[in-house]
Amino acid sequence: MEKHLKHPVFKVLADIASHNNIEAYVIGGYVRDIFLHRPSKDIDIVVLGNGIEFAELAGKQLKTKVAVFKNFGTAMLKYQDLELEFVGARKESYRADSRKPIVENGSIEDDQLRRDFTINALAISLNKANYGALVDPFDGVADLQQQLIKTPLNPEITFSDDPLRMMRAIRFASQLNFNIDEAALAAITKQKDRVAILSKERITDELNKIILSPVPSIGFKYLFDTGLLKLIFPAMANLYGVEIINGKGHKDNFYHTLQVLDNISLNTNDLWLRWAAILHDIAKPATKRFEEGHGWTFHGHEDKGARMVPQIFAQLKLPLNEKMKYVQKLVQLHLRPIVLAQEVVTDSAVRRLLFDAGDDIESLMLLCNADVTTKNEYKVKKYRNNFELVKQKLKDVEERDKVRNWQPPISGNDIMMMFGLAAGKEVGLLKNAIREAILEGEITNSYEEAVQFMLKKAKEYGLSPVQKSI
Ligand code: CTP
Repeated sequence: MEKHLKHPVFKVLADIASHNNIEAYVIGGYVRDIFLHRPSKDIDIVVLGNGIEFAELAGKQLKTKVAVFKNFGTAMLKYQDLELEFVGARKESYRADSRKPIVENGSIEDDQLRRDFTINALAISLNKANYGALVDPFDGVADLQQQLIKTPLNPEITFSDDPLRMMRAIRFASQLNFNIDEAALAAITKQKDRVAILSKERITDELNKIILSPVPSIGFKYLFDTGLLKLIFPAMANLYGVEIINGKGHKDNFYHTLQVLDNISLNTNDLWLRWAAILHDIAKPATKRFEEGHGWTFHGHEDKGARMVPQIFAQLKLPLNEKMKYVQKLVQLHLRPIVLAQEVVTDSAVRRLLFDAGDDIESLMLLCNADVTTKNEYKVKKYRNNFELVKQKLKDVEERDKVRNWQPPISGNDIMMMFGLAAGKEVGLLKNAIREAILEGEITNSYEEAVQFMLKKAKEYGLSPVQKSI
């Protein structure tokens, strides 16, 4: 492994270890990522002794500041583009009610045994006697080859030491397309309730990493099957299941949502667009009805879904900012291009969609494309062709009418000045009427036509202008 320790920083650490007669090892994600051919800038160093003192010696040599976390017995320094974290080797153990470790001096093997997974417990020696040697007492390399997430210790102990590791197991499985070892999976299922002691932020952090993995459904299936999903994100777990009345079933919205999420993940790495895919049908269970002679309906699930977004974001401690508004808007509009694709596409319908979606029209089209999950080849083809048509129309109409991010040519203020009105109902009525007329194509998007139209409308409302123009 010596060839992987080319960076001069490792020689500096090795010299400190040798001068002070302390054993030191590179450990954890950095070593794992060498095998996965994923270059990493985060380097964890474990020393058989005091990690903070070692870090301070390293800081002196490298002429860089050291940040010390006394409570955790760790220290961190930045050198060039690397981030090094130092810790003393520990024998066990985490207190059951908290993630704060109790520091104890242990051997390298003790320390490896109390790490989360065998693939994260690989170490490389920085010591004179065997510089560059791989230290792998728990067959982490074999598990990397077999693509297996397995704990070095009895999984019940590993997960009880730190319940966040249940989320981490699923996150790594999803990111790497690995399986979770059977015993580990059974332990997660058994101990799932212990996620209750974790902060929502840490859980959501892992959830977001699952969502950003290449095939996120891998992680979500594990979350669902272990029962974790129901605890951390019940609205999504609620999507599961098929009800049958009079021999008629509806599709399973959980697996449909996962398919949409996987589909969109082929085309975007944007976390929030992926969230929109997760939430697009979130209100289907709440709006589900069986209508005699018609079958299953989910009327208004896009409106209700959009209303659920802020609650869900708040529960998961996701940001309540413009990202949330973006997700909400996509949930609200997710049926619109599909409806367009089913009908004869009129210019006014396209104008209206462009006006409502604004700059998010491309995201919306990606979501709608991903939402086509029927197995019927003929239907898929029909939808995709119609989508191409809608896309072309969107382009043509935008080039001609420029309604994306459009403001009507007459503002509320203009109306108040022209008619000597205070802010109130009439101003809103006139403003809406002008906007609708332009979107419907009754008049063109020009100031002159808008003024003429407004004067006519105003007359109907019994209003007369106090000035002719502004
Ligand atoms: N670790 C652990 N239990 C945890 C978190 C971390 O045993 N709950 C150990 C693992 O050995 C892990 C190392 O600490 O490899 C560093 O953790 P972290 O930086 O969180 O993860 P990485 O493995 O580096 O992976 P990533 O950067 O993808 O999160």
